Amino acid sequence: MGGSQPAQIYLPPPSQKSNVLLEEAIAKRRSVRDFTPESISQSQLSQILWAAQGISDTRGEYRTVPSAGATYPLEIFVVCGRNGVEGIDNGVYPYNIDSHSLTLHYEGDVRLELARAALDQEFIYEAPVDIIICAVYERTAGVYGGRAERYVHMEVGHAGQNIYLQATALGLATVAIGAFYDEQVREVLRLDEEYKPLYIMPVGRPASIRSR
Ligand SMILES: Cc1cc2nc3c(=O)[nH]c(=O)nc-3n(C[C@H](O)[C@H](O)[C@H](O)COP(=O)(O)O)c2cc1C
Repeated sequence: MGGSQPAQIYLPPPSQKSNVLLEEAIAKRRSVRDFTPESISQSQLSQILWAAQGISDTRGEYRTVPSAGATYPLEIFVVCGRNGVEGIDNGVYPYNIDSHSLTLHYEGDVRLELARAALDQEFIYEAPVDIIICAVYERTAGVYGGRAERYVHMEVGHAGQNIYLQATALGLATVAIGAFYDEQVREVLRLDEEYKPLYIMPVGRPASIRSR
């Protein structure tokens, strides 16, 4: 820790323009499991988080990902490895959607522990950053009862695909990981019981493409 990092890290505003066509990003999207250790920039992280769950209307009511009844059950956490993001200390950070910022939940590089909780999928600690998408099911169940579970699972797919496409458009890459022990992931991230992890998505610069 440098000790100079502010308590709240406001990310650069996301760009809504790109030289990469949507069709190109869709065509190029691939699950990547080999990352260089190179850090990503705050602008790149900003873009990825915005695509995952950022605000996309002027009144701040709606987001980049659709949500059943706009109940917004998803919460995004960033596991930042040592030198994972330029100018951001290693640690676990919740993404504050309204202010497009991060606050430190706790300090330390937990990528190895996270990989252990996910059947030792080594690319989780090789990538500079891991994005974890969690759900608070009660938010959607409060409105939709027994249909909430399927709605939440559909929604995490929307968020995951946005992360894939945004990473591709930035020249970065990711892989959606669903194989992990829920409780172990929750413990590594020190999350309250109501947060259920659904996807771990390592993000970084692709070293090569290995299929699975
Ligand atoms: C729900 C879900 C869970 C997945 N879990 C894992 C996983 O735990 N580990 C992994 O390496 N890839 C995982 N994947 C990625 C798939 O293996 C990958 O999408 C598939 O091989 C097709 O390759 P493509 O994404 O490059 O088109 C998962 C994908 C989905 C949709």
